[in-house]
Amino acid sequence: MNNYFCERNHEIEVFERCYYNQLPLMLKGPTGCGKSQLVQVMAERLKLHLIKVACNEDTSSADLLGRFLIKGAETIWQDGPVTRAVRSGALLYLDEVAEAREDVVVALHPLTDHRRELYLDRLNETIQAPASFMCVASFNPGYQQGFKELKPSTRQRFVSLVMDYLNDEDESNLILRLTEVSSNEARMLAKLAQKIRLLAEYNLKETVSTRLLVNTAKLIHDGMEPRRAGYVGIAEVLSDDPEIIRALKDLIDLSF
Ligand SMILES: Nc1ncnc2c1ncn2[C@@H]1O[C@H](COP(=O)(O)OP(=O)(O)OP(=O)(O)O)[C@@H](O)[C@H]1O
Ligand SMILES: [Mg+2]
Repeated sequence: MNNYFCERNHEIEVFERCYYNQLPLMLKGPTGCGKSQLVQVMAERLKLHLIKVACNEDTSSADLLGRFLIKGAETIWQDGPVTRAVRSGALLYLDEVAEAREDVVVALHPLTDHRRELYLDRLNETIQAPASFMCVASFNPGYQQGFKELKPSTRQRFVSLVMDYLNDEDESNLILRLTEVSSNEARMLAKLAQKIRLLAEYNLKETVSTRLLVNTAKLIHDGMEPRRAGYVGIAEVLSDDPEIIRALKDLIDLSF
């Protein structure tokens, strides 16, 4: 696992200050811009055990907090990931928190404000989070716009850090670091990304991410013809509309 994070907007400082001041942090940014990578890197830096929870609309509070299980003749309680994180003072990462149902998120309110406590109603137990516990959530404002919003009372419990894709020089260096393409190929991929990101008229739900560039670079390094790698790694990933795919392929042809 690589443990490098390239900063764009003081991400490491913001994260550390939140940690030392026991404030929860919300990472906002498009897909593949490094949210999960930042959390991973910070867990290592702060020497915290990382517990990740991917939220979706079926996530129930029992999934997060825990439930009774029947084992033979007994029923035993099993902590969910949030409870485990609080008990052990871990770094809790709630990925795509806006996807979770509102009542589930609201159950975490006492944990994400000054109280820092988790109430388990099934056990009638309140757990106080130790000093090392930190809650980080992620949210993608792009495609969730107007679709799923976080309640203000949830939002205002978190410090917010807006994340975005790197500039072309930093992104090109990152591609070089993560793959074994030539510096020329890395630079061309980063330049291509900048061009695609400026194309608002394509109505792409999400534009080309660093993740796509890294994947494409791996195909190129493995010997795939760069244009073909760009078609399958970028153009055909971003859209299902034949005209838009054609336009993206034209841009790729111009770049390589
Ligand atoms: N600033 C950055 N520093 C280091 N690596 C980065 C950065 N931005 C993106 N990456 C790399 O890009 C890829 C995607 O990043 P990551 O998985 O963290 O995205 P994400 O924001 O969590 O996306 P999603 O919302 O889809 O989960 C990873 O390989 C990651 O290492
Ligand atoms: Mg992620």
